[in-house]
Amino acid sequence: MAGNENKILDAFKETQTVEKVDTSKKLKVGIIGCGWIAGAHIAEYKRMEDVEIVAGADLIPGKAEAFFRDNGVENVRCYPDHASMLDNEELDAVSVCTYNKTHAECAIYALNKGVSVLLEKPMSVTLEEAVEICRAEKKSGKILSIGFQPRFDPNMKMVKKIVQSGELGDVYYIQTGGGRRRGIPTPFGTSFIEEKTAGIGAMGDIGCYSLDMVLNALGYPKPLTISGYKSAYFGKNPAYFTSEGKPAAYADLFTVEDFAAGFVRLEGGIVLDFRIAWAMHLDTPGDTIIMGTKGSLRIPSTECWNGSVGGPMKIYHEVAGESVETVIPVLHDHSKGCFYQKIRSFLNAVKEGGKSPVPSSEIIINQAIIDGIVKSSELGREITVEIPAI
Ligand SMILES: NC(=O)c1ccc[n+]([C@@H]2O[C@H](COP(=O)([O-])OP(=O)(O)OC[C@H]3O[C@@H](n4cnc5c(N)ncnc54)[C@H](O)[C@@H]3O)[C@@H](O)[C@H]2O)c1
Repeated sequence: MAGNENKILDAFKETQTVEKVDTSKKLKVGIIGCGWIAGAHIAEYKRMEDVEIVAGADLIPGKAEAFFRDNGVENVRCYPDHASMLDNEELDAVSVCTYNKTHAECAIYALNKGVSVLLEKPMSVTLEEAVEICRAEKKSGKILSIGFQPRFDPNMKMVKKIVQSGELGDVYYIQTGGGRRRGIPTPFGTSFIEEKTAGIGAMGDIGCYSLDMVLNALGYPKPLTISGYKSAYFGKNPAYFTSEGKPAAYADLFTVEDFAAGFVRLEGGIVLDFRIAWAMHLDTPGDTIIMGTKGSLRIPSTECWNGSVGGPMKIYHEVAGESVETVIPVLHDHSKGCFYQKIRSFLNAVKEGGKSPVPSSEIIINQAIIDGIVKSSELGREITVEIPAI
């Protein structure tokens, strides 16, 4: 019933937000890393009248040239790496779409050249790299936004609105994460599963979304201590890959985690219980729940965790002394899409000198938690988290 009502109400809404873009100045944009996700970036840039894609770079010879040709964008100057591109071009902005392990060097190089950066998630592999990125950003005075498109999903905005409204009272416990029964990402090769390219596995791919969903809603409280665990029982098993129609040799290359969990004490007396899986013998490791002194919110997990909601959210609370549930129907996106908004909001900040839409000051905390889980897991004990001053 709620779904039908929603559809009826949706019919009265505008199908797209009217957006005025100043086309008097064209932004010169470059793309660093011309792989899978770069395809989503170029598709959105092509929809924007104030963008000129002038340069691209990829380490693999010929890959950048083929990428722009296949995407129907002409007269793009192609380079063999980020440094040669940034040394030779006058750019307003770049998308850093490289694998995780080169996020920091590419972002820092661009910021040092005075170029604003839209950096794909995760921000980096380690906390130390994230700190260096933030310092380069501060020195440059340019815009740095991290590529968390679920931030623009109306359902994620609703999670934040509910928490910020005080409807739940004081939040004291959060369970978040997600998982896939079978979902180690090797669609176009092994850059997600090798330490030398990805650095981190399920946490950097999908875990960072779960963390952002709850931490953004709470205003990104800092982590104090972390007890972490990680494992790789599926990725290191050749039978996993052959059952997926992939080469058994992928198991030898698999050098990141396919499962991680963390018990994190956050400032403000909040506890965060996190788990993320690329593969497991289970449908889901659980919904996201945010428990508060006045009410609790349940956010159903998707079967294949990807940073969106898997069904209507529910608030469990008391009304007139009775225990009741309020259902929040799934909200539909009437904009040009989350990915478009992630890029548009970044470019608007570049043009207007505004605030970063997904700021490093928040995402460094996301990265500190991932980094803390890695370090705690390797040490086999709880660690104290210290985020250096920027
Ligand atoms: N936001 C999303 O929805 C989303 C989805 C998928 C991937 N991602 C993120 O995007 C990043 C890239 O993922 P992908 O699937 O496109 O990987 P990919 O392996 O398909 O592409 C990465 C490309 O970067 C190139 N590269 C690496 N270092 C470089 C450098 N210094 N200079 C120039 N080129 C360089 C590689 O040669 C490769 O072609 C990852 O960090 C991933 O987490 C985000």
